[in-house]
Amino acid sequence: MVGLIVARSKNNVIGKNGQIPWRIKGEQKQFKELTTGNAIVMGRKSYEEIGHPLPNRLNIIVSRTKKFEGENLITASSVQEAIALAKEKDENLNVYIAGGYGLYKEAIPFVDKMYITEVDLVVEDGDVFFPEFDADEFDLEIGETGGEEIKFTRTVYVRRAGEKAKDKADAAQITYKRLTEAELETFINMRITQLTEEYEVEGKRPPEDVNLKTALEDFYHRHMADGTFVSWLALDGDKIIGTSGMSFVEKPPYFSCPTGRLGLLSSMFTNPNYRRMGIAKELLHRVVEEARSYGCGAVWITASNMGVKLYTAYGFEHNGNFMQYKL
Ligand SMILES: NC(=O)c1ccc[n+]([C@@H]2O[C@H](COP(=O)([O-])OP(=O)(O)OC[C@H]3O[C@@H](n4cnc5c(N)ncnc54)[C@H](OP(=O)(O)O)[C@@H]3O)[C@@H](O)[C@H]2O)c1
Repeated sequence: MVGLIVARSKNNVIGKNGQIPWRIKGEQKQFKELTTGNAIVMGRKSYEEIGHPLPNRLNIIVSRTKKFEGENLITASSVQEAIALAKEKDENLNVYIAGGYGLYKEAIPFVDKMYITEVDLVVEDGDVFFPEFDADEFDLEIGETGGEEIKFTRTVYVRRAGEKAKDKADAAQITYKRLTEAELETFINMRITQLTEEYEVEGKRPPEDVNLKTALEDFYHRHMADGTFVSWLALDGDKIIGTSGMSFVEKPPYFSCPTGRLGLLSSMFTNPNYRRMGIAKELLHRVVEEARSYGCGAVWITASNMGVKLYTAYGFEHNGNFMQYKL
């Protein structure tokens, strides 16, 4: 089970000046009960705030800049890697994502349960927030209340079963079409939003001096015209809710790829409200088939952390630091 534990204020604040902006007797009890004997995953800043590993549980710190090692203390470079490391140690361990923002944002699409303590407080000038999520994907259980001067209420958001997500997909009547010039502007705007979000998850801003829109327009016009870029879209009515992309490149042929042709996967994105409905898999399938008909010997991708699960389930394999699907 992969869970997430957070306490948030009424205005969604979880941190201020590097700390949790309240102290409530008894509020941390649930955290201790759930995580003792299991694994916690936290961001480098949250860990440095605590300053030491929490006892009697596996502490996995997510960082790309520092390495923490010790008894019950290891470092991972992504949330997905942290979960894989915990399961490698003991597949029965429950893994709890313990913040902050970037880790929650990355984990929300796949966690089974979210333990959210609603703190009855409005925090001015908070600087770290709990990410937005689609409450429809979860069943909500309201638990006990506690606290004296500041009250809190325990809630648990339990991921709805796959069946329900499938019903949602059927009800939404998702359709698929190949990208044409007519959808290009929306497609480019979605791509820029997606790339911007990848920076924001790590608390960064994309460089302001890059005119990505013009560069993307130029790229797509040229490569759609000469057939070296194709994309399939998922639509709910007129609204594009999922994208995919495949570029075709040619290398000098080699034994396992005598055409020398390779497909490079890009632009895989599904609107968060439509995730876990099989849409990304369907889009992936359509562009992989495009690569097959173009004569590609393999499809390559440098997968984002969130993507690894999808690509592994489809049959992609790690090959060095990128993932490959043999056609
Ligand atoms: N209310 C609550 O329940 C709660 C829970 C936890 C934290 N907090 C609060 O939240 C604040 C800290 O949160 P934060 O979001 O600022 O920082 P954070 O998530 O604790 O740490 C951020 C760092 O973690 C690493 N990281 C995060 N996402 C990553 C990713 N996807 N891949 C690789 N590395 C990643 C990066 O470390 P490197 O820079 O080393 O690569 C990044 O700089 C504090 O105020 C804390 O008190 C509140």
